[in-house]
Amino acid sequence: MANERGYAFATWTSFIEESQIRALLKYKVKYYFAGGKPGIMPTDVFAKILSELGEMYAADPAMALDDLNYGPTGGQSWFLKTLAKRLHKVRGIPIDCESQWECVSITNGSQQALYALLDTLIDPGDVIITPSPAYLGFLVPAVKLGARVLTVPTDLDGIVPEYVERAIHISKRKFGKNPDLLYVVPDSDNPKGTTLPMSRRRALFDICENHNILLLEDSAYAEIQFKENPKPIKTLDKENTRVAYLGTSSKEAAVLRVGYSVMPDMVREQVLKDKGYLDLCTTTLVQRILDIYYREHIDAAMKKGIPLYKKRYEAMAKAIDSSFPAGERTDPTGGFFIWWQSEDPSFDSGEFMERVAIPNDLLYVPGAPFYPITGYTLAVEEDDVVPSVPEHNTMRLGFSYAPPDIISEGIERLGNLLSKEL
Ligand SMILES: Cc1ncc(COP(=O)(O)O)c(C=O)c1O
Repeated sequence: MANERGYAFATWTSFIEESQIRALLKYKVKYYFAGGKPGIMPTDVFAKILSELGEMYAADPAMALDDLNYGPTGGQSWFLKTLAKRLHKVRGIPIDCESQWECVSITNGSQQALYALLDTLIDPGDVIITPSPAYLGFLVPAVKLGARVLTVPTDLDGIVPEYVERAIHISKRKFGKNPDLLYVVPDSDNPKGTTLPMSRRRALFDICENHNILLLEDSAYAEIQFKENPKPIKTLDKENTRVAYLGTSSKEAAVLRVGYSVMPDMVREQVLKDKGYLDLCTTTLVQRILDIYYREHIDAAMKKGIPLYKKRYEAMAKAIDSSFPAGERTDPTGGFFIWWQSEDPSFDSGEFMERVAIPNDLLYVPGAPFYPITGYTLAVEEDDVVPSVPEHNTMRLGFSYAPPDIISEGIERLGNLLSKEL
């Protein structure tokens, strides 16, 4: 497609739009329930780390020169060892921290790992399976790279394994393709906030083993949990061959653009090859800051932060229950989001946001972008897949950023506006 200057843009630019979550960041509103921005952050801890680092660099210019330089694509060994210890100790990931820390690698945010993984696995026409709805930061790159996205129904416990199995069979029958990838966010999913019980985690792992599918476990919210969660699916992957496990410092530390992962060796090699061309390496200074945080501060920061997030969730759930019109909401036990669906199938939360919510100082993320712009969904009754269509009567409400009193006030305001409309 040539533009007015004559040079041609790549085809994807004509059908992929800017991320709707990113686009919403430009609005400044009093009641912000949109992007998954952490609102509780140990800023005092980071101030302390930064001043300590300043002193260290002043005293040791050689260390400063190293830390301000290029480094290994997959991360500095000292930082990977710190991450390996935490993954093993807190999440039970089966890696020996002394001899297997090289299984861990970092990326610029887990977003980069999602993109590089898709880039590594997907040729146009390949099939991937996701929950319906699913994190748009995964769906959009998948479509951009030409994947056939096949979405599978979810309930209040997340994706239904039996339907995943069916979707795999239909993919083979209809597209002549075994899916390459199953994507899940097991702990407090984005966007629905649901958590997969252990029985479903096991079932999904077995299905992927039986059908030779890579299971992508995106555990972005694993540390933001109000009660003890089932163990990661990755704990079942004793040989490190089936599950690509992703974590991120964005929600549990600060948005310094560092994601960390444990991937099967062959997958990791390709992903890091890709990363090498995308960014050469992740900033070492940032790894130094996070290394100190993960070694010395995270436990205390989480102990303080999680109850505060829980209060925000409670304020939001209570205000939805008392002020929203007929509909259904999810009941997360962690993470950043509640998902709400109106009983009225004709309601369009995107149109309502532009016309009513934004002028009333309110922002949320309409549900439609969490369905693929092109793709298929499993039609259970028909035992077939049909083109995926977004459910416009849904919305994702984020409780992470605003304090509880603003959440109560804002959600009540939104509820009253919705009640007038519906
Ligand atoms: C489920 C999920 N995965 C990945 C990401 C990307 O996070 P980051 O790139 O900050 O690590 C997000 C961000 O909100 C997310 O919600």
